[in-house]
Amino acid sequence: MLNTIDKFEKIVRELLSDEAVRPVSEHVASQELYNTLDLSLSENGIPDEEFELALRDLVLKTPRTATNAFFNQLFGGRNDKAVLGDLLAVILNNSMYTYKAAGPQVGVEKILLRETCNIIGWNGGADGTFAPGGSMTNYMAMVMARDAFDRTIKYDGVQHKMTVYTSKESHYSIPKNAAFAGIGRNNVRYVSCDEFGKMNVSELSKMITEDKQNGFAPIMVNLTAGTTVMGAFDEIPEVREICDANGMWVHLDGAYCGSVLFSDAYKHLIKGVELVDSFSYNAHKMLGTPLSCSIIVAKNKQHLHDSFSNDASYLYQTDHDEFNLGKTSLQCGRRNDALKFWTLWKSVGTKGLERIVDHQFDLADIARDYINSNSDYTLYSYGESISVCFNYKGIPARKICTALYEHSELLVGYGSFREDEFIRLVTINAQNKKEDILNFFKTLESFVEEHSSIFDPVPQ
Ligand SMILES: Cc1ncc(COP(=O)(O)O)c(C=O)c1O
Repeated sequence: MLNTIDKFEKIVRELLSDEAVRPVSEHVASQELYNTLDLSLSENGIPDEEFELALRDLVLKTPRTATNAFFNQLFGGRNDKAVLGDLLAVILNNSMYTYKAAGPQVGVEKILLRETCNIIGWNGGADGTFAPGGSMTNYMAMVMARDAFDRTIKYDGVQHKMTVYTSKESHYSIPKNAAFAGIGRNNVRYVSCDEFGKMNVSELSKMITEDKQNGFAPIMVNLTAGTTVMGAFDEIPEVREICDANGMWVHLDGAYCGSVLFSDAYKHLIKGVELVDSFSYNAHKMLGTPLSCSIIVAKNKQHLHDSFSNDASYLYQTDHDEFNLGKTSLQCGRRNDALKFWTLWKSVGTKGLERIVDHQFDLADIARDYINSNSDYTLYSYGESISVCFNYKGIPARKICTALYEHSELLVGYGSFREDEFIRLVTINAQNKKEDILNFFKTLESFVEEHSSIFDPVPQ
Protein backbone atom coordinates (compact mmCIF):
# COMPACT_ATOMS: atom_id res chain seq x y z
CA MET A 1 0.00 0.00 0.00
CA LEU A 2 2.81 2.45 0.85
CA ASN A 3 4.21 1.86 -2.61
CA THR A 4 0.81 2.76 -4.03
CA ILE A 5 0.71 5.98 -2.01
CA ASP A 6 4.17 6.89 -3.36
CA LYS A 7 2.96 6.28 -6.91
CA PHE A 8 -0.15 8.35 -6.25
CA GLU A 9 1.93 11.21 -4.87
CA LYS A 10 4.27 11.13 -7.85
CA ILE A 11 1.45 11.31 -10.39
CA VAL A 12 -0.43 13.98 -8.45
CA ARG A 13 2.68 16.16 -8.10
CA GLU A 14 3.24 15.96 -11.84
CA LEU A 15 -0.41 16.79 -12.55
CA LEU A 16 -0.40 19.78 -10.21
CA SER A 17 2.78 21.26 -11.65
CA ASP A 18 1.51 20.73 -15.20
CA GLU A 19 -1.87 22.27 -14.33
CA ALA A 20 -0.07 25.38 -13.06
CA VAL A 21 1.37 26.08 -16.51
CA ARG A 22 -1.30 24.38 -18.63
CA PRO A 23 -4.73 24.87 -17.06
CA VAL A 24 -6.44 23.20 -20.01
CA SER A 25 -5.26 19.70 -20.94
CA GLU A 26 -4.30 18.78 -24.48
CA HIS A 27 -7.50 18.30 -26.47
CA VAL A 28 -8.00 14.66 -27.42
CA ALA A 29 -10.62 14.44 -30.15
CA SER A 30 -13.13 11.68 -29.45
CA GLN A 31 -12.47 10.13 -32.90
CA GLU A 32 -8.77 9.89 -31.97
CA LEU A 33 -9.16 8.71 -28.38
CA TYR A 34 -8.15 5.06 -28.81
CA ASN A 35 -5.24 5.99 -31.12
CA THR A 36 -3.93 8.64 -28.73
CA LEU A 37 -4.04 6.72 -25.46
CA ASP A 38 -3.37 3.07 -24.74
CA LEU A 39 -6.59 2.13 -22.97
CA SER A 40 -6.51 -1.50 -24.09
CA LEU A 41 -6.89 -4.36 -21.61
CA SER A 42 -4.85 -7.54 -21.94
CA GLU A 43 -5.07 -11.14 -20.79
CA ASN A 44 -1.94 -11.08 -18.64
CA GLY A 45 -1.54 -7.49 -17.53
CA ILE A 46 1.56 -5.36 -18.03
CA PRO A 47 4.82 -4.68 -16.14
CA ASP A 48 4.63 -2.08 -13.42
CA GLU A 49 6.70 0.52 -15.26
CA GLU A 50 4.52 0.32 -18.32
CA PHE A 51 1.42 0.49 -16.13
CA GLU A 52 2.71 3.65 -14.45
CA LEU A 53 3.39 5.31 -17.80
CA ALA A 54 -0.07 4.43 -19.11
CA LEU A 55 -1.68 5.80 -15.97
CA ARG A 56 0.38 8.99 -16.03
CA ASP A 57 -0.52 9.59 -19.66
CA LEU A 58 -4.21 9.07 -18.94
CA VAL A 59 -4.16 11.47 -15.98
CA LEU A 60 -2.31 14.20 -17.86
CA LYS A 61 -4.64 14.04 -20.86
CA THR A 62 -7.84 14.16 -18.79
CA PRO A 63 -9.85 17.43 -18.77
CA ARG A 64 -8.80 19.69 -15.89
CA THR A 65 -11.82 20.71 -13.91
CA ALA A 66 -10.04 22.27 -10.92
CA THR A 67 -8.14 25.02 -12.71
CA ASN A 68 -8.88 28.69 -13.39
CA ALA A 69 -9.77 27.86 -17.01
CA PHE A 70 -12.72 25.56 -16.30
CA PHE A 71 -16.10 27.28 -16.33
CA ASN A 72 -17.99 24.62 -18.21
CA GLN A 73 -20.21 23.01 -15.62
CA LEU A 74 -21.69 23.70 -12.26
CA PHE A 75 -18.66 22.55 -10.29
CA GLY A 76 -14.99 23.45 -10.21
CA GLY A 77 -11.93 24.07 -8.08
CA ARG A 78 -10.24 21.77 -5.63
CA ASN A 79 -10.78 22.37 -1.95
CA ASP A 80 -7.83 20.91 0.00
CA LYS A 81 -9.73 19.96 3.13
CA ALA A 82 -12.54 18.30 1.23
CA VAL A 83 -10.08 16.40 -0.98
CA LEU A 84 -8.34 15.10 2.15
CA GLY A 85 -11.66 13.79 3.46
CA ASP A 86 -12.46 12.06 0.19
CA LEU A 87 -9.04 10.44 -0.08
CA LEU A 88 -9.47 9.06 3.42
CA ALA A 89 -12.95 7.81 2.53
CA VAL A 90 -11.37 5.79 -0.30
CA ILE A 91 -8.73 4.30 1.99
CA LEU A 92 -11.26 3.54 4.74
CA ASN A 93 -13.76 2.15 2.20
CA ASN A 94 -16.75 1.91 4.51
CA SER A 95 -20.25 1.25 3.33
CA MET A 96 -22.71 3.59 4.97
CA TYR A 97 -25.63 1.19 5.40
CA THR A 98 -24.93 0.08 8.96
CA TYR A 99 -23.22 1.28 12.12
CA LYS A 100 -21.41 -2.04 12.21
CA ALA A 101 -19.74 -1.32 8.84
CA ALA A 102 -19.29 2.46 9.12
CA GLY A 103 -19.08 3.20 12.89
CA PRO A 104 -18.25 6.86 13.58
CA GLN A 105 -18.69 7.72 9.89
CA VAL A 106 -22.42 7.31 10.55
CA GLY A 107 -22.09 10.15 13.07
CA VAL A 108 -20.25 12.24 10.47
CA GLU A 109 -23.18 11.88 8.06
CA LYS A 110 -25.81 12.42 10.75
CA ILE A 111 -24.15 15.62 12.02
CA LEU A 112 -24.12 17.12 8.53
CA LEU A 113 -27.79 16.29 8.07
CA ARG A 114 -28.73 17.57 11.52
CA GLU A 115 -26.88 20.86 11.03
CA THR A 116 -28.49 21.33 7.62
CA CYS A 117 -31.94 20.79 9.17
CA ASN A 118 -31.09 23.16 12.04
CA ILE A 119 -30.08 25.93 9.65
CA ILE A 120 -33.31 25.46 7.71
CA GLY A 121 -35.16 25.78 11.01
CA TRP A 122 -36.45 22.21 11.20
CA ASN A 123 -36.53 20.43 14.52
CA GLY A 124 -35.91 16.80 15.49
CA GLY A 125 -38.62 15.47 13.19
CA ALA A 126 -36.49 16.11 10.12
CA ASP A 127 -33.71 13.99 8.66
CA GLY A 128 -32.03 13.21 5.40
CA THR A 129 -29.54 11.14 3.47
CA PHE A 130 -26.89 11.30 0.77
CA ALA A 131 -27.52 10.05 -2.76
CA PRO A 132 -25.28 9.73 -5.82
CA GLY A 133 -26.06 13.12 -7.38
CA GLY A 134 -28.71 15.79 -7.52
CA SER A 135 -30.73 13.86 -10.08
CA MET A 136 -31.07 11.06 -7.56
CA THR A 137 -32.00 13.34 -4.68
CA ASN A 138 -34.73 14.73 -6.94
CA TYR A 139 -35.77 11.14 -7.62
CA MET A 140 -35.99 10.38 -3.91
CA ALA A 141 -38.18 13.46 -3.44
CA MET A 142 -40.52 12.33 -6.21
CA VAL A 143 -40.80 8.82 -4.76
CA MET A 144 -41.64 10.25 -1.33
CA ALA A 145 -44.24 12.56 -2.88
CA ARG A 146 -45.77 9.63 -4.76
CA ASP A 147 -45.88 7.41 -1.67
CA ALA A 148 -47.25 10.21 0.50
CA PHE A 149 -50.09 10.60 -1.98
CA ASP A 150 -50.94 6.89 -1.90
CA ARG A 151 -49.34 4.50 0.61
CA THR A 152 -50.40 1.45 -1.42
CA ILE A 153 -48.30 2.30 -4.50
CA LYS A 154 -45.14 0.79 -3.08
CA TYR A 155 -46.96 -2.53 -2.70
CA ASP A 156 -49.40 -2.58 -5.60
CA GLY A 157 -47.76 -0.31 -8.15
CA VAL A 158 -49.18 2.85 -9.65
CA GLN A 159 -52.98 2.90 -9.89
CA HIS A 160 -53.64 6.58 -10.63
CA LYS A 161 -52.94 9.10 -13.34
CA MET A 162 -50.61 11.36 -11.38
CA THR A 163 -49.09 14.69 -12.45
CA VAL A 164 -46.05 16.65 -11.30
CA TYR A 165 -45.28 20.32 -11.98
CA THR A 166 -41.96 21.95 -12.62
CA SER A 167 -40.76 25.03 -14.47
CA LYS A 168 -39.63 25.01 -18.08
CA GLU A 169 -36.18 25.98 -16.80
CA SER A 170 -35.90 23.11 -14.31
CA HIS A 171 -33.43 20.24 -14.56
CA TYR A 172 -33.89 17.38 -17.01
CA SER A 173 -33.84 14.84 -14.19
CA ILE A 174 -37.50 15.68 -13.48
CA PRO A 175 -38.97 13.96 -16.59
CA LYS A 176 -36.46 11.10 -16.27
CA ASN A 177 -37.48 10.59 -12.65
CA ALA A 178 -41.18 10.72 -13.57
CA ALA A 179 -40.50 7.79 -15.90
CA PHE A 180 -38.59 5.86 -13.21
CA ALA A 181 -41.30 6.53 -10.61
CA GLY A 182 -44.10 5.18 -12.81
CA ILE A 183 -45.67 8.63 -13.17
CA GLY A 184 -44.68 8.98 -16.80
CA ARG A 185 -42.87 11.68 -18.73
CA ASN A 186 -46.10 12.81 -20.37
CA ASN A 187 -47.51 13.61 -16.95
CA VAL A 188 -44.88 16.22 -16.18
CA ARG A 189 -46.38 19.68 -16.59
CA TYR A 190 -43.97 22.46 -17.52
CA VAL A 191 -44.88 25.82 -16.04
CA SER A 192 -43.67 28.87 -17.97
CA CYS A 193 -41.16 31.30 -16.47
CA ASP A 194 -40.94 35.06 -16.18
CA GLU A 195 -38.16 37.06 -17.81
CA PHE A 196 -35.80 36.16 -14.92
CA GLY A 197 -36.36 32.43 -15.38
CA LYS A 198 -38.60 32.02 -12.29
CA MET A 199 -41.72 29.87 -12.38
CA ASN A 200 -44.96 31.77 -13.19
CA VAL A 201 -46.96 30.78 -10.14
CA SER A 202 -50.28 32.09 -11.46
CA GLU A 203 -50.04 29.64 -14.35
CA LEU A 204 -49.32 26.78 -11.91
CA SER A 205 -52.69 27.13 -10.16
CA LYS A 206 -54.56 27.06 -13.44
CA MET A 207 -52.74 23.94 -14.63
CA ILE A 208 -53.47 22.07 -11.38
CA THR A 209 -57.17 22.96 -11.52
CA GLU A 210 -57.43 21.88 -15.15
CA ASP A 211 -55.67 18.58 -14.50
CA LYS A 212 -57.98 17.80 -11.59
CA GLN A 213 -61.00 18.49 -13.81
CA ASN A 214 -59.54 16.01 -16.31
CA GLY A 215 -59.22 13.25 -13.73
CA PHE A 216 -55.52 13.57 -12.91
CA ALA A 217 -54.12 13.51 -9.40
CA PRO A 218 -51.58 16.33 -8.96
CA ILE A 219 -49.02 15.13 -6.40
CA MET A 220 -46.02 17.42 -6.40
CA VAL A 221 -44.44 20.71 -7.40
CA ASN A 222 -40.70 20.77 -8.00
CA LEU A 223 -39.18 24.19 -7.40
CA THR A 224 -35.63 25.10 -8.34
CA ALA A 225 -33.06 27.08 -6.34
CA GLY A 226 -30.66 27.97 -9.11
CA THR A 227 -31.94 26.87 -12.50
CA THR A 228 -29.32 25.05 -14.52
CA VAL A 229 -28.83 27.70 -17.20
CA MET A 230 -29.80 31.07 -15.72
CA GLY A 231 -29.31 30.34 -12.01
CA ALA A 232 -32.81 31.65 -11.21
CA PHE A 233 -34.64 30.98 -7.93
CA ASP A 234 -38.32 30.02 -7.85
CA GLU A 235 -40.46 31.62 -5.14
CA ILE A 236 -41.55 29.25 -2.38
CA PRO A 237 -44.34 30.68 -0.11
CA GLU A 238 -47.11 31.09 -2.68
CA VAL A 239 -46.44 27.63 -4.11
CA ARG A 240 -46.67 26.19 -0.61
CA GLU A 241 -50.15 27.69 -0.24
CA ILE A 242 -51.27 26.23 -3.57
CA CYS A 243 -49.91 22.83 -2.62
CA ASP A 244 -51.56 22.92 0.81
CA ALA A 245 -54.88 23.67 -0.84
CA ASN A 246 -54.40 20.64 -3.13
CA GLY A 247 -52.68 18.19 -0.78
CA MET A 248 -49.42 18.26 -2.76
CA TRP A 249 -45.74 17.80 -1.91
CA VAL A 250 -43.26 20.64 -2.46
CA HIS A 251 -39.65 19.78 -3.28
CA LEU A 252 -36.94 22.41 -3.61
CA ASP A 253 -34.19 21.30 -5.98
CA GLY A 254 -31.20 23.24 -4.74
CA ALA A 255 -28.63 21.02 -6.46
CA TYR A 256 -26.97 24.02 -8.06
CA CYS A 257 -27.50 26.93 -5.65
CA GLY A 258 -29.27 25.54 -2.58
CA SER A 259 -26.05 26.22 -0.64
CA VAL A 260 -27.13 29.89 -0.40
CA LEU A 261 -28.65 28.45 2.77
CA PHE A 262 -25.26 29.14 4.38
CA SER A 263 -25.11 32.80 3.40
CA ASP A 264 -26.73 35.64 5.34
CA ALA A 265 -26.48 37.83 2.26
CA TYR A 266 -28.10 35.37 -0.18
CA LYS A 267 -30.38 33.05 1.80
CA HIS A 268 -33.26 35.42 1.01
CA LEU A 269 -33.16 33.75 -2.43
CA ILE A 270 -34.67 30.64 -0.81
CA LYS A 271 -37.03 32.51 1.50
CA GLY A 272 -39.56 30.04 2.83
CA VAL A 273 -37.27 26.98 2.52
CA GLU A 274 -38.61 25.82 5.90
CA LEU A 275 -42.04 25.44 4.27
CA VAL A 276 -41.07 22.75 1.75
CA ASP A 277 -41.43 19.01 2.31
CA SER A 278 -37.99 18.18 0.97
CA PHE A 279 -34.90 20.12 0.01
CA SER A 280 -31.78 18.96 -1.80
CA TYR A 281 -28.40 20.55 -2.44
CA ASN A 282 -25.07 19.50 -3.88
CA ALA A 283 -22.01 20.29 -1.79
CA HIS A 284 -20.00 19.32 -4.88
CA LYS A 285 -21.37 22.33 -6.71
CA MET A 286 -21.32 25.60 -4.72
CA LEU A 287 -19.35 24.33 -1.75
CA GLY A 288 -16.60 22.84 -3.89
CA THR A 289 -16.23 19.33 -2.45
CA PRO A 290 -15.20 16.56 -4.88
CA LEU A 291 -18.03 14.86 -6.77
CA SER A 292 -20.41 13.67 -5.69
CA CYS A 293 -21.84 15.06 -2.48
CA SER A 294 -25.62 15.32 -2.76
CA ILE A 295 -27.86 15.77 0.23
CA ILE A 296 -31.61 15.53 0.60
CA VAL A 297 -33.47 16.44 3.78
CA ALA A 298 -37.13 15.83 4.48
CA LYS A 299 -39.12 17.86 6.99
CA ASN A 300 -40.75 14.69 8.29
CA LYS A 301 -38.26 11.84 8.42
CA GLN A 302 -41.03 9.25 8.46
CA HIS A 303 -41.38 9.76 4.70
CA LEU A 304 -37.79 8.60 4.18
CA HIS A 305 -38.48 5.45 6.17
CA ASP A 306 -41.81 4.83 4.46
CA SER A 307 -40.35 5.00 0.97
CA PHE A 308 -36.86 3.57 1.38
CA SER A 309 -36.67 1.09 4.25
CA ASN A 310 -36.84 -2.62 3.76
CA ASP A 311 -36.08 -5.47 6.15
CA ALA A 312 -32.91 -7.44 5.50
CA SER A 313 -31.82 -9.72 8.31
CA TYR A 314 -28.51 -10.45 6.55
CA LEU A 315 -27.65 -6.75 6.79
CA TYR A 316 -29.24 -5.15 9.84
CA GLN A 317 -27.87 -7.15 12.76
CA THR A 318 -26.90 -4.60 15.39
CA ASP A 319 -27.89 -1.15 16.62
CA HIS A 320 -30.95 1.02 16.28
CA ASP A 321 -32.43 2.14 12.95
CA GLU A 322 -31.20 5.67 13.71
CA PHE A 323 -27.65 4.37 13.21
CA ASN A 324 -28.34 2.02 10.33
CA LEU A 325 -28.48 4.53 7.50
CA GLY A 326 -29.46 1.92 4.91
CA LYS A 327 -33.00 2.24 6.29
CA THR A 328 -33.38 5.63 4.60
CA SER A 329 -31.11 5.41 1.55
CA LEU A 330 -31.67 4.70 -2.12
CA GLN A 331 -28.81 2.23 -2.42
CA CYS A 332 -27.63 -0.77 -0.42
CA GLY A 333 -23.82 -0.50 -0.50
CA ARG A 334 -23.11 3.22 -0.39
CA ARG A 335 -19.83 5.10 -0.48
CA ASN A 336 -18.98 7.62 2.17
CA ASP A 337 -19.79 10.95 0.51
CA ALA A 338 -20.19 12.65 3.87
CA LEU A 339 -16.59 12.68 5.08
CA LYS A 340 -15.33 15.19 2.46
CA PHE A 341 -18.10 17.62 3.39
CA TRP A 342 -17.42 17.11 7.09
CA THR A 343 -13.65 17.75 6.73
CA LEU A 344 -14.48 20.96 4.86
CA TRP A 345 -17.18 22.16 7.27
CA LYS A 346 -15.19 21.11 10.38
CA SER A 347 -12.12 23.06 9.23
CA VAL A 348 -13.70 26.30 7.95
CA GLY A 349 -16.86 26.39 10.06
CA THR A 350 -20.29 27.55 8.92
CA LYS A 351 -18.84 31.05 8.44
CA GLY A 352 -16.28 29.56 6.08
CA LEU A 353 -19.03 27.96 3.99
CA GLU A 354 -20.72 31.35 3.87
CA ARG A 355 -17.50 32.96 2.58
CA ILE A 356 -17.28 30.33 -0.18
CA VAL A 357 -20.83 31.07 -1.33
CA ASP A 358 -20.51 34.87 -1.10
CA HIS A 359 -17.25 34.86 -3.03
CA GLN A 360 -18.95 33.17 -6.01
CA PHE A 361 -21.54 35.97 -6.15
CA ASP A 362 -18.72 38.54 -5.90
CA LEU A 363 -16.99 36.90 -8.87
CA ALA A 364 -20.26 36.95 -10.82
CA ASP A 365 -20.61 40.69 -10.09
CA ILE A 366 -17.09 41.24 -11.42
CA ALA A 367 -17.99 39.36 -14.62
CA ARG A 368 -21.27 41.27 -15.07
CA ASP A 369 -19.54 44.63 -14.46
CA TYR A 370 -16.96 43.79 -17.08
CA ILE A 371 -19.63 42.83 -19.61
CA ASN A 372 -21.76 45.88 -18.87
CA SER A 373 -18.83 48.22 -19.36
CA ASN A 374 -17.81 46.77 -22.72
CA SER A 375 -20.03 47.33 -25.76
CA ASP A 376 -18.73 44.20 -27.56
CA TYR A 377 -20.70 42.13 -25.07
CA THR A 378 -24.43 41.52 -24.60
CA LEU A 379 -25.61 40.35 -21.16
CA TYR A 380 -28.60 38.00 -20.92
CA SER A 381 -28.72 37.08 -17.25
CA TYR A 382 -29.63 39.07 -14.15
CA GLY A 383 -28.04 39.90 -10.82
CA GLU A 384 -27.93 37.49 -7.84
CA SER A 385 -26.98 34.58 -10.06
CA ILE A 386 -23.61 32.90 -10.47
CA SER A 387 -24.44 31.98 -14.09
CA VAL A 388 -23.29 34.92 -16.17
CA CYS A 389 -24.80 34.59 -19.63
CA PHE A 390 -23.51 36.72 -22.50
CA ASN A 391 -22.51 36.90 -26.14
CA TYR A 392 -19.41 38.47 -27.64
CA LYS A 393 -19.46 40.50 -30.85
CA GLY A 394 -22.58 38.65 -31.95
CA ILE A 395 -20.59 35.43 -32.56
CA PRO A 396 -22.75 32.31 -32.10
CA ALA A 397 -22.06 31.00 -28.60
CA ARG A 398 -21.73 27.36 -29.63
CA LYS A 399 -19.11 28.27 -32.22
CA ILE A 400 -16.98 30.19 -29.77
CA CYS A 401 -17.26 27.60 -26.95
CA THR A 402 -16.38 24.70 -29.26
CA ALA A 403 -13.40 26.51 -30.77
CA LEU A 404 -12.06 27.45 -27.32
CA TYR A 405 -12.35 23.80 -26.29
CA GLU A 406 -10.77 22.35 -29.41
CA HIS A 407 -7.84 24.75 -29.14
CA SER A 408 -7.37 23.93 -25.43
CA GLU A 409 -7.87 27.56 -24.40
CA LEU A 410 -10.85 27.55 -22.03
CA LEU A 411 -13.64 25.20 -21.07
CA VAL A 412 -16.92 27.09 -21.02
CA GLY A 413 -20.37 26.01 -22.17
CA TYR A 414 -23.38 27.61 -23.78
CA GLY A 415 -27.04 27.62 -22.88
CA SER A 416 -30.28 29.12 -24.02
CA PHE A 417 -33.27 30.92 -22.58
CA ARG A 418 -36.35 31.68 -24.65
CA GLU A 419 -35.04 32.72 -28.11
CA ASP A 420 -31.46 33.46 -27.10
CA GLU A 421 -28.41 31.25 -27.08
CA PHE A 422 -25.38 32.52 -25.13
CA ILE A 423 -22.14 31.64 -23.39
CA ARG A 424 -22.72 30.61 -19.78
CA LEU A 425 -19.84 31.56 -17.50
CA VAL A 426 -20.28 29.88 -14.13
CA THR A 427 -18.34 31.53 -11.30
CA ILE A 428 -18.58 28.48 -9.04
CA ASN A 429 -14.89 27.89 -8.47
CA ALA A 430 -14.34 29.65 -5.14
CA GLN A 431 -10.56 29.39 -5.55
CA ASN A 432 -10.78 31.85 -8.44
CA LYS A 433 -9.89 35.49 -7.90
CA LYS A 434 -10.87 38.68 -9.69
CA GLU A 435 -7.82 38.30 -12.01
CA ASP A 436 -9.01 34.85 -13.09
CA ILE A 437 -12.36 36.24 -14.19
CA LEU A 438 -10.77 39.17 -16.02
CA ASN A 439 -8.28 36.75 -17.56
CA PHE A 440 -11.18 34.67 -18.86
CA PHE A 441 -12.39 37.66 -20.89
CA LYS A 442 -8.87 38.56 -22.01
CA THR A 443 -8.28 35.00 -23.26
CA LEU A 444 -11.63 34.97 -25.06
CA GLU A 445 -10.96 38.31 -26.75
CA SER A 446 -7.42 37.50 -27.91
CA PHE A 447 -8.57 34.10 -29.11
CA VAL A 448 -11.26 35.64 -31.28
CA GLU A 449 -8.79 38.17 -32.64
CA GLU A 450 -6.14 35.55 -33.43
CA HIS A 451 -8.60 33.11 -34.99
CA SER A 452 -10.81 35.53 -36.87
CA SER A 453 -11.00 33.12 -39.83
CA ILE A 454 -12.99 30.65 -37.70
CA PHE A 455 -15.57 33.28 -36.93
CA ASP A 456 -15.85 34.99 -40.30
CA PRO A 457 -17.93 36.80 -41.09
CA VAL A 458 -17.93 38.45 -37.70
CA PRO A 459 -20.81 40.94 -37.56
CA GLN A 460 -19.50 44.35 -36.44
C1 LIG B 1 -31.01 22.40 -10.93
C2 LIG B 1 -30.28 21.10 -10.99
N1 LIG B 1 -30.85 20.00 -10.44
C3 LIG B 1 -30.26 18.80 -10.47
C4 LIG B 1 -29.03 18.65 -11.06
C5 LIG B 1 -28.42 17.30 -11.12
O1 LIG B 1 -27.35 17.19 -10.25
P1 LIG B 1 -26.27 16.03 -10.48
O2 LIG B 1 -25.45 16.46 -11.64
O3 LIG B 1 -25.53 16.00 -9.19
O4 LIG B 1 -27.05 14.78 -10.75
C6 LIG B 1 -28.40 19.75 -11.64
C7 LIG B 1 -27.10 19.60 -12.29
O5 LIG B 1 -26.54 20.48 -12.87
C8 LIG B 1 -29.04 21.01 -11.62
O6 LIG B 1 -28.53 22.09 -12.18
